Amino acid sequence: MKALITAGGHGTRLRPITHTQNKHLIPIANKPILNYALEYIREAGITDVGIITNKEGSEVKDVYKDGSQMGLHITYIPQERPSGLADCVRIAQPFLGNESFVFYLGDNIIVGGIARFIDEFRKSGANCHLVLARVKDPERFGVPELKDGRIIGIEEKPRKPKSDFAVTGIYIYDPNIFEAVNAISPSARGELEISDAHQYLLEKGFKVTYSEITGWWKDTGKPADLLEANRLVLDSFETRIEGKVDTQSNLTGRVVIEPGAEIHNSNVRGPAIIGAGSKIVNAYIGPYTSIDKNCRIENSEIEFSIVSCGCLIRNQKIRIESSLLGKDVQIVDANSKPFTNRFIVGDQSQIEIR
Ligand code: TTP
Repeated sequence: MKALITAGGHGTRLRPITHTQNKHLIPIANKPILNYALEYIREAGITDVGIITNKEGSEVKDVYKDGSQMGLHITYIPQERPSGLADCVRIAQPFLGNESFVFYLGDNIIVGGIARFIDEFRKSGANCHLVLARVKDPERFGVPELKDGRIIGIEEKPRKPKSDFAVTGIYIYDPNIFEAVNAISPSARGELEISDAHQYLLEKGFKVTYSEITGWWKDTGKPADLLEANRLVLDSFETRIEGKVDTQSNLTGRVVIEPGAEIHNSNVRGPAIIGAGSKIVNAYIGPYTSIDKNCRIENSEIEFSIVSCGCLIRNQKIRIESSLLGKDVQIVDANSKPFTNRFIVGDQSQIEIR
């Protein structure tokens, strides 16, 4: 069995970070989001993986190369423009061939991996197996209509959802999905919708089955979703101290200090991770915070945040919270007169100052 993973798309909801970075490379607990998908695929025993990428930009390929560092064999499938999830499946047909496959949206993180869903697909003899999760806001997703334990219809982002389930970004198909993705037309927003392909299969009498996610699942489309995914992943961490912690510092709860990180006269309250080469000096790092590699946090407090590599936070009087920092961001005190705030920020940045 092969797997197809998406790593293209617009990423509009994660601007400005996605102006300069592919969203699938944003770190969650110091690992790119896409790593999680690739690890689940490998754990399920699949090594032949196709990754959909945007036509321009090679950052995903630059990171994962031929996949051998993760024990995978990766084929990159460039998409002309982000024309929808069903288009991703359509253009991958030459790679996928005439076999069943897993289609996994590369911005989804799920606890417990995906092997169980593949087993359930095989046992059910279905043409299409969907993974559903109960959510508070089904109108944001593809929503199934269920009757007597069966899916009888699917609508994309319905105004009046017919159930409180979302179709998550994990799908398992047999080759009949190619008939569906080639038959449907673009939706009002101009995309080939995967929900329309599922609806097509249902209307043509193909067997569509489902599994329900019992643990957590996160679709990391918005900044708040990234912070929540970061919280959930950090919550599963065990303490591991491989860097230097001086005697004036206190570590509480489950904390990971990677090799080469240094903690001086600071409090780190877990769950938290401090990446290799980062220095924490006279600072407080609170729960659910990931500090990636080569950052410096000095005379400042931060919690429930994601800090990408190379950032500097210095002399901040007010605790930073619920924040998402891209690479090489600097938040420092202004110490020259007149006392003003000075900003050099990219398009669509968000700053809240007290
Ligand atoms: P979405 O999160 O639905 O879309 P997006 O990434 O374009 O983001 P936004 O809505 O904020 O603009 O995409 C789900 C996944 O599918 C994600 O991994 C990106 C990927 N994708 C493609 O690779 N090609 C596409 O044509 C689309 C629509 C998405």
